[in-house]
Amino acid sequence: MLKFSGQLPNQSSKPLRVTHSGVAANSLSEWSGFRRVLLGKGPPALGSVTGGLAVLSCTAALAKSLRLQRHWRRSSRLKPLRAGAERKAQAQPKELPMTPACIRKAWVFPPGAGDIAALALREEAIEDPVLGEVRVQVQAIGLNFADVFTGLALYGPIASGEVGSEAGGFVPGLEFSGVVTSIGIDDRYPTAKRAHGGQLCELTPEVWKLARKAATGFKVGDRVMGVLRFGAYASIVNAPAHQIRHIPDSWSFEEGAAFLVQAMTPSYALHELGAMRPGHTVLVQSAAGGCGLQAIEICLKLGVKVVGTVGSASKVPVLLERFPSLKPEQFLVRGSGRDFEAQLRAALLAVGSPHGFDIVLDAVLGDFFQPGFACLAPGGRYVVYGAASMTPQQDSLGVLGWAKLGWQWLQRPWVDPLSLPGVNKSVMGFNLIHCFNNAELLSVLLEDLLNLNLPAPRVGHTFRFEDAVNALRTFKTGMTTGKVVLKIEDST
Ligand SMILES: NC(=O)c1ccc[n+]([C@@H]2O[C@H](COP(=O)([O-])OP(=O)(O)OC[C@H]3O[C@@H](n4cnc5c(N)ncnc54)[C@H](OP(=O)(O)O)[C@@H]3O)[C@@H](O)[C@H]2O)c1
Repeated sequence: MLKFSGQLPNQSSKPLRVTHSGVAANSLSEWSGFRRVLLGKGPPALGSVTGGLAVLSCTAALAKSLRLQRHWRRSSRLKPLRAGAERKAQAQPKELPMTPACIRKAWVFPPGAGDIAALALREEAIEDPVLGEVRVQVQAIGLNFADVFTGLALYGPIASGEVGSEAGGFVPGLEFSGVVTSIGIDDRYPTAKRAHGGQLCELTPEVWKLARKAATGFKVGDRVMGVLRFGAYASIVNAPAHQIRHIPDSWSFEEGAAFLVQAMTPSYALHELGAMRPGHTVLVQSAAGGCGLQAIEICLKLGVKVVGTVGSASKVPVLLERFPSLKPEQFLVRGSGRDFEAQLRAALLAVGSPHGFDIVLDAVLGDFFQPGFACLAPGGRYVVYGAASMTPQQDSLGVLGWAKLGWQWLQRPWVDPLSLPGVNKSVMGFNLIHCFNNAELLSVLLEDLLNLNLPAPRVGHTFRFEDAVNALRTFKTGMTTGKVVLKIEDST
């Protein structure tokens, strides 16, 4: 039997009773070590707290299983109370074993680096997951354009150093797949801006409630895929459980890491903003890319006509192979300006929709916006979710890069909001990154997406985890098809 005693922080004036059943008369939440013992599984612990003094007894095995020793060793206020037989038997307090720190590999951009080449692999300690978080041994990581833009320091909070600087850097990555290795039990809320092992996003207590409920749906050994508000380029992550789902049995880890962001993006654009219905005709820009392929899958699932565009002829065979039910006339290699508009009108005739597109999905922008907008049907919705045509091709912007970006910015397409009611068309935009602040919406979007039962995504390019810099360079050329993933070969 071990005994512990200590001063309860902020509890000195509040007597607190603890019963055999482990239910405290008032909250012990500020002292999670005790709370874990009291509310944990196993034989009941017996304790009492009066006038700020807490005394707790439990078996050594229970204390060990609940990691009380570790808490005791960390807390300067909590000391072992050796009494009676134990005091005689233990002249010196025994060195209690500590859980070794968990070390992971993570790719890190130094604060405000603005250079893809600055991405560095480092080993770092990762804190234990908290209640509501699931620890995942990562097997594969999906690349997204957000990783490129954070690397170039074009993503505001990172460029300003608001995010990542505390931790000496910023770990990119929005999605991953892997195996659950532990479920958090520590019921403290994590502090804001956890750069190590978790996402760079402060979640509210309401969100943690949702995460804690979701955590009960996972167990050690589960194959999962998940989304993070960055932090996924790592061999181990702690993720809030409501941001994780099981990988379908027949899918590989690479397919799991390739799915959620790139399918949720067009799903949100088509359903929430586009109000897509059977009979509609949809234009998908960058149709052979990760989001583009998923957009077409969703359209076909719901019996919607689709036209896809690509920037290079080499991508068309990929589309025809993936979608054998579609005709070559439904895919076009974008020409410029008026040529592009003529191409779009020909494709509309080919699919029997001369009235125009009901929805346009565009993450390319540049010169391709106006022709697409012109081909929008009355009542149509033009959904903008990126600007890939502005992607700098070098590792860092430099003076010339900034000048080019500035020129592209000056030439960006314009829409007069006053004209929209007259032409009876809408222009909309979104960024899914904001869903992390709206956990209920994120959960609903994930559920809706999984209910579509889409086929496994097409993984076009797989790089070793150690080749992350090359993977990012290849991805941002715009010549890739399907999803680009990093595979962790030795994830032990
Ligand atoms: N708003 C959101 O929440 C959200 C979420 C995820 C992704 N996105 C955006 O969606 C777009 C597609 O994402 P993804 O991950 O599926 O990527 P992707 O489509 O696999 O790759 C991007 C594509 O952009 C096209 N592109 C056009 N001009 C380019 C240029 N100058 N440099 C590079 N690429 C160029 C290329 O296809 P073609 O040349 O064949 O058109 C390229 O394959 C990206 O712009 C991304 O930022 C937005």
